[in-house]
Amino acid sequence: MGRIILHEAESFFYRNGRLHAEEIAIEELAGRFGTPLYVYSLAHVRAQYERLRITLAEAAPSIHYAVKANACGALIHALGVMGAGADVVSGGELFRARRAGIPAERIVYAGIGKTGEEIEYALGERIGAFTVESEPELERLSAFARRRGVAARVAIRVNPDVDPQTHVYTSTGKKESKFGLDLERARCAYERAAALPNIEIAGVHMHLGSPLADEKPYAEALDKVAPLCEWLRDRFPSCTTLDLGGGMGIPYRRRQKPFDLAAFAAAVLPRVRVIGLRLALEPGRYIVGNAGILVARVQYVKENAFRRFIITDAGMNDLIRPPLYGAWHEIVAVRETEAHFRADVVGPICESGDFFAQDREAPAVREGDLIAVMSAGAYGFSMASNYNSRGRAAEVVVDGTRVMLARRRETWDDLVRAEDEAPSQYGRVKAM
Ligand SMILES: Cc1ncc(COP(=O)(O)O)c(C=O)c1O
Repeated sequence: MGRIILHEAESFFYRNGRLHAEEIAIEELAGRFGTPLYVYSLAHVRAQYERLRITLAEAAPSIHYAVKANACGALIHALGVMGAGADVVSGGELFRARRAGIPAERIVYAGIGKTGEEIEYALGERIGAFTVESEPELERLSAFARRRGVAARVAIRVNPDVDPQTHVYTSTGKKESKFGLDLERARCAYERAAALPNIEIAGVHMHLGSPLADEKPYAEALDKVAPLCEWLRDRFPSCTTLDLGGGMGIPYRRRQKPFDLAAFAAAVLPRVRVIGLRLALEPGRYIVGNAGILVARVQYVKENAFRRFIITDAGMNDLIRPPLYGAWHEIVAVRETEAHFRADVVGPICESGDFFAQDREAPAVREGDLIAVMSAGAYGFSMASNYNSRGRAAEVVVDGTRVMLARRRETWDDLVRAEDEAPSQYGRVKAM
């Protein structure tokens, strides 16, 4: 093992001055698959899942991997083999989870805007539970389940009004947020659910936000929802699960301490024991965040009177977290160097928001060098777009000495595949 860069990201390290993912040199992967390139370490994904499972073993929680963090089929499949379920928020994510082999009964489906088509699909798959976010959704679900002659198992998402101390865009458990129902309304919604046909009350759900730095918001939220949970437990024998959602943080900076899972367990487990429901979790970032890096090639180094810019072939269409959330990602040279200079690390897109780092000490790279944007495994590729008509990057999975191309690079043909008219037909708009 060489020198690692971040706590709890042991799979990425320098050996003989070359950045590696497990046993594979990043230079080798970039040469073979091109750049920009997402590289994932399967060992890291497995280790994080195991860390969670073992630390919380006393409660034997059901762990539903949040597919939104990274929908790469190879990673979902590996987690499924280890016993994970999936948390999905769209018909598309459900499709991916099923395709990757997650058993339907281990799937929970959240989201405030489920369409009739998506509900039909999920009922047909016989998923484990719907996380219901509003009264009208409950009514719609009941009507669809009745028509099909099946029971829909539901957990109502409660909004405990707890400040998760994170970015406002990813803060979801405060009263002004669009998610879930406040505790009073939730109680009424459960009463309604009990009266509706083809609905079975399965549990209680919440998700506070992401990433969370420590266990305190979870403890505060549990104290707030405990009376509701106990009321439900005593009234509805089918209500067995308390889903705490995801949100556990990861280190993004050098020397940043990892999320203290032992402290999380110490805060959560005794409370859940008193409540008397089975614990469920929906971690995304914690499992895959530090399992991935984005590798890019430096195209140019440009200077003006004020700044130096490292211009790479990856852009905000590949990784949007820095401009969207002001997120920090460590950026390292794939060939280790002691030399640094102050620079912005930017992409080729026609937006000033197209940056990975601004005005910071960056490795003194030159045209043709490779860099790696660290901690890009969560909300990286899954938020990627084709903006500026750029094909999305390839994704490779490393497992020890083995490498798998999980998703090939998109071509220019891929960009127009869904446009069914040939250019010669553009002028001939047909009547409906
Ligand atoms: C309902 C729900 N569960 C789980 C997650 C996963 O969060 P994280 O990746 O921070 O664990 C999210 C993230 O938005 C979510 O909305």
